[in-house]
Amino acid sequence: MSATRPSSSVAGPAEPGNETLTVPLLVVLAVVVVAGLLFGYDQGVISGALNGIKQHFTLTSILVEVVTSWVTLGALGGSLLGGYLADRYGRRRAVLIAGLLFILGALLQALAPDITLLVLGRLAVGFGVGVAAVAAPLYGSELAPTAHRGRFVAAYQLAITIGIFLAYLVNAGLAENDAWRWMLGISVVPGILLVLIGALGVESPRWLVKVNRRDEARTVLGKVWPGEDTTARLTAIEHALDEEAGTASWAEVFNPAWRKPLMIALGLAVFQQITGINAIIYYANQIFAAAGFSTPAMQTTATTWAVGGVNVAATFIAIAFIDKLGRRPLLLVGLIGMGVALLVVGMAFLSIDGQPAGDGQAPGGPTTAGIVTLVALVVFIVSFAFSLGPVTWTVINEIFPGQVRGRAVAVATAVNWGSAFLVSQFFLTLIGAIGTSWTFWLFAFFCAVGWIWVYRTVPETKGRTLEEIERSWTGQASLATG
Ligand code: BGC
Repeated sequence: MSATRPSSSVAGPAEPGNETLTVPLLVVLAVVVVAGLLFGYDQGVISGALNGIKQHFTLTSILVEVVTSWVTLGALGGSLLGGYLADRYGRRRAVLIAGLLFILGALLQALAPDITLLVLGRLAVGFGVGVAAVAAPLYGSELAPTAHRGRFVAAYQLAITIGIFLAYLVNAGLAENDAWRWMLGISVVPGILLVLIGALGVESPRWLVKVNRRDEARTVLGKVWPGEDTTARLTAIEHALDEEAGTASWAEVFNPAWRKPLMIALGLAVFQQITGINAIIYYANQIFAAAGFSTPAMQTTATTWAVGGVNVAATFIAIAFIDKLGRRPLLLVGLIGMGVALLVVGMAFLSIDGQPAGDGQAPGGPTTAGIVTLVALVVFIVSFAFSLGPVTWTVINEIFPGQVRGRAVAVATAVNWGSAFLVSQFFLTLIGAIGTSWTFWLFAFFCAVGWIWVYRTVPETKGRTLEEIERSWTGQASLATG
């Protein structure tokens, strides 16, 4: 553990600290936001579309699982592809490719005459989501002014939550009409938006310098921060890149020199998922059913507002505080809230007649234990939404040296999707095996382990330039932990 050193004592030129949000920067922000919407909408929509799909195609249970989970698998592959595309063709072009994949996938799903094309559509959408999930936050974090970087990536998380919320609303609104094709097809709109806005955007100057297109980088810097000392910014970027040897390969991501940032990114990626967020996002209806919300309408309302709406609202806390209080305090406070809430949900389920989630419904309205569950889930969602949700993506996108950033972010994002896949796939099985209470206590236990790990390992990166963070791994600068 080391003390914070003022940035002025750090070797190498620092970037000027202008914080103005110019039009090109707002376009970057718009790209980040639309990519987040796509990601979130896809997390949330399938639960609503599935019933109609099952009836239309008379699916076996294996095919139901394939239709549900292949977006996640596609996203896992897409995030690795996204890292390659972002390093090879640039952050902006990778975003454009994601948008095209997304449009293709959404159309295939909406028009699919048979199950094979539907599954292909799911896979294409998944690839699009994966590529966007890597390229867009990377694009945002490389272009954001240092003082707003946390907020830029937190805006991505905000958009994810809005996407999930919109999907819940669309599911509720279209459920009666068996309009699954519309539910899935609607996502063509953000896909088109992503391509249009991405086409207007500038390329990341950090990437341009990396591929030796310094003149273009200078032009972009001039556009993004007009009237400023472009040379100073360029020099700071060049200085950081000059210290890096060789060209990035996948192997370079695992170079021992970058072990620390890799461990930090992978740790956050895994803890974000194994503390249970997507078990709740996907299975909220069943959890509320088991907790005594007896009618589907009550369950959908609880899910839409207590999970979907609260998730959106609480993300604003992160946007307000991530660059002021910093990443560590948000993580440490949020993990305590999540852990306590999960302990309480586990206790509430002890008294819910031993009914496993997904099976039973108590007669009448929600019981006391049901209300306790609802409140505890709200506390959980709020705590996640200002901590592990946004901070994970912010840190993953700022912690790596420029040379390996694209691919390293891709590896961390793929690990995040892999963990999400495992948790959502095995949540119900786990409940069957160890019971609902112990399943939530297991998530709570991971919060406790996560807290200790964050306290000891994750450095504070608030207010540091990407170049300073980079130099901290080679001992030329230091970041505070503990
Ligand atoms: C996570 C998603 C999750 C969402 C919920 C994101 O940061 O990566 O897996 O569904 O937050 O808001």
